[in-house]
Amino acid sequence: MKAHQLTMLGTGLIGEFYTATLHGQRGRDQVRIVFSKSKERAGAFKDRWSIPEATTDLKEAVEHPATDVVVVGLPNYLHEEAVGLAAVAGKPVLCTKPLGRSAEEARRMLETVERAGVFGGYLEDLCYTPKTLKAIKSVQSGAIGDVTWVRSRETHPGPHSAWFWDGRLTGGGAIVDLGCHCIEIIRSFVGKGNRPVEVMCTTDTLVHPIDDEDNAIALIRFESGATGQFEVSWTFRGGMDLRDEVAGTHGTIWLNHFLRTGFEMFTAGQGGGYVAEKAETAAGWLFPVGDEASELGYVDMFSDMFSALEDGRSPRETFYDGYVVNAVMDAAYRSAKSRAWEPVELFEWRGGATPRIAKTTETFEDQIVIKREVLPDGRTKLILKDPASGDYTDRIVSGA
Ligand SMILES: NC(=O)c1ccc[n+]([C@@H]2O[C@H](COP(=O)([O-])OP(=O)(O)OC[C@H]3O[C@@H](n4cnc5c(N)ncnc54)[C@H](O)[C@@H]3O)[C@@H](O)[C@H]2O)c1
Repeated sequence: MKAHQLTMLGTGLIGEFYTATLHGQRGRDQVRIVFSKSKERAGAFKDRWSIPEATTDLKEAVEHPATDVVVVGLPNYLHEEAVGLAAVAGKPVLCTKPLGRSAEEARRMLETVERAGVFGGYLEDLCYTPKTLKAIKSVQSGAIGDVTWVRSRETHPGPHSAWFWDGRLTGGGAIVDLGCHCIEIIRSFVGKGNRPVEVMCTTDTLVHPIDDEDNAIALIRFESGATGQFEVSWTFRGGMDLRDEVAGTHGTIWLNHFLRTGFEMFTAGQGGGYVAEKAETAAGWLFPVGDEASELGYVDMFSDMFSALEDGRSPRETFYDGYVVNAVMDAAYRSAKSRAWEPVELFEWRGGATPRIAKTTETFEDQIVIKREVLPDGRTKLILKDPASGDYTDRIVSGA
């Protein structure tokens, strides 16, 4: 395995999480140079993480002769420029979410890396949480049958820096910030080859005095007939709520990533400092997260990215995935305006065709079995439909 030397762009929350992940656990991949537009922040970050060099020059950071991978952890409006510089330098580039501010921007970024022939990884950590990876494996092995519905929810009281609140710099509000995670989680469960067809979305700006949405709910219809549902909010109180639910024809999965992870603590004192990202209090009942870098998926995400790079394969999350997510978000914004279902417009679909969810085919004495029911006295009842008349009947088939 190769040890990578990285260019880290950005010293904010995500630059911190990425570097903590890479430099933690005796990791072999190390940040070689860090870029921040502020000399003080670049210097402080360099010292905090024992990074050899810091710079305020974006191009110099990307072109540093010792680095072989560029990690983009900058605000959304700088992603395209950073990816463009990495492509010119011929270096693999890993870009944080959302890929672009719109599908158009994301498509340009996708074409930039593909034209340059450089590796493009989409850093969508929440598709890599250990729980999510295991749940996806169960779904793929058929444990819950055909997926019919996926709900993904991310809500918190609002972002931590000024630029997030300016839709011109980000591409929107809570949808572009949080919905991008939910959409890719939903796609991972319904199958990445399952084409998102159309979106119905409602948004509102309820609490914060801003121009973009601070609350949104959307439905995504997929080619198989499955429905995705995402719920995002910048006005939720009580920390960060990250939950997913997957319903299948033979099973159900519930995932809770943050507020109820099995670690609950009470302190009557002044609290113990940092509890977890977006926690609103450090006293009273608390819901700490044991190892955020791991539980939020950063560890498995970077492992997949670097392994993919070395094996010459695509990572689980590619620039194309980031583009599809942007296209779904664009449809959501159009739907919120038109108040109607809006098509997901993709310049190219790379997923193939997905058959519609199969209906049950069990029969009993020429009748269609709609459902089996075990009664309180232990007998089994079948609910049957007569295919000729369309009539429904109950039939006790076993037990006392
Ligand atoms: N779970 C995740 O994957 C996750 C979590 C948080 C943020 N993000 C993404 O990471 C990116 C950065 O978010 P963040 O939370 O680190 O933001 P932040 O505000 O904490 O940090 C942003 C960084 O960019 C720098 N910056 C701001 N304006 C700049 C400019 N004009 N030129 C150069 N540098 C500039 C800031 O100095 C800072 O270092 C965003 O795209 C965000 O969506 C991803």
